[in-house]
Amino acid sequence: MTTSTISEPLLTKTLSKYVLPGPRYEHSLRVATQARLLAKHWNLDSSIAYSAGILHDIAKQITPETVKTKSLPIDSLDALFQSYPKIWHSFFGPYLAKYELPDISPKILNAMRWHSTGKSKMTALEKVIFISDFIEPGRTVEEAARARYLAFESLDLCVYYISNYSILSLIERKLVIHPYTLKCRNYYLNTKS
Ligand SMILES: [Fe+2]
Repeated sequence: MTTSTISEPLLTKTLSKYVLPGPRYEHSLRVATQARLLAKHWNLDSSIAYSAGILHDIAKQITPETVKTKSLPIDSLDALFQSYPKIWHSFFGPYLAKYELPDISPKILNAMRWHSTGKSKMTALEKVIFISDFIEPGRTVEEAARARYLAFESLDLCVYYISNYSILSLIERKLVIHPYTLKCRNYYLNTKS
């Protein structure tokens, strides 16, 4: 039996176990608020969106080393960390959330999983978290303004815009691009209206 409703105190308590007070914690709260707003606009479950927003970066401040030091009974996904250290947290985060909140809805876990790379054929909730991470009010890149407008016009077009920008930005900064990011951009290139 899974649940889509997790109380806000429990969510913040869970986040606090792994994310220190400061910019990352504040970002998580802003993404949650943004996701709730966007979910309401698109007639989605705003409680699930809020939960996924709060928890999406739960693993951002830890590494496979932390997992071992704390003796967490979870696969630390070492190989993924070696190849994609900046992406690791989005794939490990769902395992950590499930460990902390065993009854958590798989919809929340999937939205957490795809928030960095995106992928083809995302659910509306997955798109909402992917987008909210980029458009929350703390984001100051110029492209966030355009994405904020698109988010309320077309989720698909907004996902395309963000994934396209991410790829260009990664190339510019000479960083590795995860194949899922490319798949996401190509899929939404072909489906955007
Ligand atoms: Fe984030």
